[in-house]
Amino acid sequence: MIKIAPSILASDFARLGEEVKDVEAAGADYIHVDVMDGHFVPNITIGAPIVRALRPVTTLPLDVHLMIENPDLYIEEFADAGADILTVHAEACPHLHRTIQLIKSTGTKAGVVINPGTPVEAIKHVIEDVDLVLLMTVNPGFGGQAFIERVLSKITETKQLAASLGVSPEIEVDGGVNAETARLCIEAGATVLVAGSAIYNQSDRKAAIDQIRHS
Ligand code: DX5
Ligand code: ZN
Repeated sequence: MIKIAPSILASDFARLGEEVKDVEAAGADYIHVDVMDGHFVPNITIGAPIVRALRPVTTLPLDVHLMIENPDLYIEEFADAGADILTVHAEACPHLHRTIQLIKSTGTKAGVVINPGTPVEAIKHVIEDVDLVLLMTVNPGFGGQAFIERVLSKITETKQLAASLGVSPEIEVDGGVNAETARLCIEAGATVLVAGSAIYNQSDRKAAIDQIRHS
């Protein structure tokens, strides 16, 4: 069963609570929260106070994607705010194994993410420790970018690596996912699809989610 994680980055921030409730009613499985610090990526979005504000609004897991430098400094704060999954970039973590253990020590699920230009090799030695691997299908920083097809082989590679080690983390993709590109991701082995503009730019969010899920 494919899970759909709408990214609130594409929602109307002035009506954020309603926008979250809307995709929950439309069948979303996770709420994807894009945290950007203006250093790791060239954009600034939202932080732990927004996660805390959203916690009572939805029963769905809050899937928090940390596009920030020094994530260790903020992990406890995000966990305390109500994040269910905390995902950190391998590129931002010189002590990746330690950071993943820190996430797990808070009782939150741990995810690791790599950019399009980073090889799967970068997560080889932590994949047994994580609940989720996120493969960026755009360069992080902005919604509405074009899907990078070359990442598809990394989805298959990640699935094979996990299987060879006897683990089965969720394999999530993020960036440029729509009804057409979703099919390619699912065929390659993705189990969770993040979609921002393809869901929030449609007035009928249920139709948008169904189309992506059953593409
Ligand atoms: C990109 C973010 C994505 C983004 C996806 O840096 O991590 O989650 O919001 O947006 P779309 O689906 O519009 O590419
Ligand atoms: Zn994201």
